[in-house]
Amino acid sequence: MSLVALERVGVSLGGRRVLEGVSLAIEPGEIVTVVGPNGSGKTTLMRLVIGALTPSEGRVLRAPGLTVGYVPQKLHVDPGLPLSVRRFLSLPRPVSRAEAAGALEEAGVGHLAGRQMTELSGGQAQRVMLARALTARPQLLILDEPTQGLDQQGSAAFYRQIEELRQRHGCAILLVSHDLHVVMAATDRVICLNGHVCCEGAPAQVASAPEYRALFGTGTQGALALYRHEHDHGHDHAAHAHAHGPEDGAADARGLALDAAGPHGAGAGPGTGTGAS
Ligand SMILES: Nc1ncnc2c1ncn2[C@@H]1O[C@H](COP(=O)(O)OP(=O)(O)OP(=O)(O)O)[C@@H](O)[C@H]1O
Ligand SMILES: [Mg+2]
Repeated sequence: MSLVALERVGVSLGGRRVLEGVSLAIEPGEIVTVVGPNGSGKTTLMRLVIGALTPSEGRVLRAPGLTVGYVPQKLHVDPGLPLSVRRFLSLPRPVSRAEAAGALEEAGVGHLAGRQMTELSGGQAQRVMLARALTARPQLLILDEPTQGLDQQGSAAFYRQIEELRQRHGCAILLVSHDLHVVMAATDRVICLNGHVCCEGAPAQVASAPEYRALFGTGTQGALALYRHEHDHGHDHAAHAHAHGPEDGAADARGLALDAAGPHGAGAGPGTGTGAS
């Protein structure tokens, strides 16, 4: 049974079409990475998945009782608001001191427990948000550009840690990343998004496809190729003629026993990013 499935989802924001015809499903325990240019709708997609945003068209289905931990791309903390790391971990759900300490340790920031949130660097703040997301004991962990601001070595180390997190917690992980060359080794499935799903599949499967090579190339060329790809086709979605991976639109065929009624804790867990963008 899928944890989350999107069926032909469309979203308009401020009168603009941001996502169109997006169908995808996240299975238990898999690591899925969404890549795409700036403004391609990646964060919007994550907000749909956690239930912070309602689709204008289509449906978002979540497994009953699904627990989600969400690490947003950015966190806005009021500079005038005194908020310690320890207290932040207890919002909105109180966690024990031991649980908080364990989660911070696991996220590699055990030494920051007594600091103020406003004093943290961007990378440290994201680690603290990861710790908070882990206290939700998520079945699905969502990380929106967790390696932003990390150098290539830092990114590679982070992706190794992602694999450890999956093994320890048995959770599925949905990632947004620009680090295409690093992501490939650490992910089960890649989804290339540009207002719609341009292509998707297992890295090895996709990597051997000519379309993929044209999109991503190799090494750091990959990111450049992706941005070039943005201009390769018009955005007449109806006439969109890219080859889609086998997962696309497959939700219907999977015998989903999902509940379309609501977020089921996705919007209420401690990892869902109060004040997050
Ligand atoms: N609240 C909003 N009102 C109007 N437009 C919005 C809103 N939120 C996002 N958008 C627009 O939707 C598009 C997709 O935004 P989104 O944040 O999902 O992109 P992204 O792929 O995450 O980009 P980035 O790589 O820069 O994080 C952008 O054009 C953005 O300007
Ligand atoms: Mg984003």
